[in-house]
Amino acid sequence: MKEWILMGDDRGIQLESCEFEFRLRTHLHFGAGKALQLGRILKEVPYRRIGIILDPGVAGQPYMQQVLEGIRKEAFEDIRVWTYDLKEEPDYDALDRVKPEFMTGGRSAVDCFIGIGGGSVIDFAKGLATLAVNPGPALSFRGFPAGLTPSLPIVAVPTTAGTGSEVTYNAVFIDRAGKRKLGINTEHNFPALAVLDPLLVVSSPERVTISTGIDGLVHAIESYGCRRSNPLTMVFAREGFAHVYSALERIPDAPHDTGVRAHLQLGAYLAGISLMNAGSGPAGALSYPLGVHFGVAHGLAGGVFLPPLVAHNVERGFDYSALHDAIAPGDRHLPQEEKNRSFAWKIQELCQKLGIPDNLRVFGVNPGNVHLILADIDSLGPAFAQNPVDFSVDDGKRLVMRMSGSPEPSQGA
Ligand SMILES: [Fe+2]
Repeated sequence: MKEWILMGDDRGIQLESCEFEFRLRTHLHFGAGKALQLGRILKEVPYRRIGIILDPGVAGQPYMQQVLEGIRKEAFEDIRVWTYDLKEEPDYDALDRVKPEFMTGGRSAVDCFIGIGGGSVIDFAKGLATLAVNPGPALSFRGFPAGLTPSLPIVAVPTTAGTGSEVTYNAVFIDRAGKRKLGINTEHNFPALAVLDPLLVVSSPERVTISTGIDGLVHAIESYGCRRSNPLTMVFAREGFAHVYSALERIPDAPHDTGVRAHLQLGAYLAGISLMNAGSGPAGALSYPLGVHFGVAHGLAGGVFLPPLVAHNVERGFDYSALHDAIAPGDRHLPQEEKNRSFAWKIQELCQKLGIPDNLRVFGVNPGNVHLILADIDSLGPAFAQNPVDFSVDDGKRLVMRMSGSPEPSQGA
């Protein structure tokens, strides 16, 4: 038995003086071949009229054809499928454009929205589930809208592993005019059902797998250290971290191994639960301006910042030894300080092995345009404040300038 599964033993937390909430609202179906049972699962709820948002990247695959066939043979009253054809991450205008496909006479024509695809596809299903029962333009629901009619139920069927979108209520959308990533984030967006089937993710290309999988690594590590973490989120973060780390380590040598993908999928799910309940940190936050201004995918963008942030935290005394124990049980006897140094090195080494850039110049960020990111960092203070040791807005700016090859301002400038 793993000793560390006992709650409250991390970081000297006194359980008797600790209070927290914890939410987990998604009914999970996990297993190779589970997606073939999707029709039956939906029928049992029961849903009668089905709205599907389908990722075109997987639509033509033989396994996906079987999955869709399994839904069709259940004879639902109505099945409406919209193939997600957006080239970029979704924006509010796209939601308004697609909404009529799922409406009849001003009312929703479906009972639920099923997102079959990557994180953006599932987010899109969440957005439509809100819009179907709340009149008004999508942009009017940006941020954290209150007083909404509860969304239609959402079913998440991810074909990539990493975002945790199948278990979180966040749905990210870009406000193109305002050049910001905001989203429609409401607790009504928690997926009612999630199907995690390793056969759905086994064929996704290695680069995509790494780019999305690293998002799960960021979620696990940052939510573990997050100031809002609690004994329960730490269990999910630690377990999720162990699965994601070991899977990512093996991806380059076994890119299409079903077992490796299954660990990545489960680990990202566990990390998503921790993220949902504890929050994230600077790497997750810094990924947004890099995505908005330079088009870098969210997971990859967070992964770029992860090694320097872990090193920053270790240098200032944050203790990752429980995470180190989870991936190097043979080194449990090492002194805490040594485990932390080793942890920072292991994260850097893994990112190198996966080909995650260690600078921003490869994305086109340079001294002439870095101001685009710097200007956005001022609004990231609340996310930075979740870091377990001090990481100020100035620290964030210095990190971005260093990584873009720009001269760094002096301390306190
Ligand atoms: Fe993320």
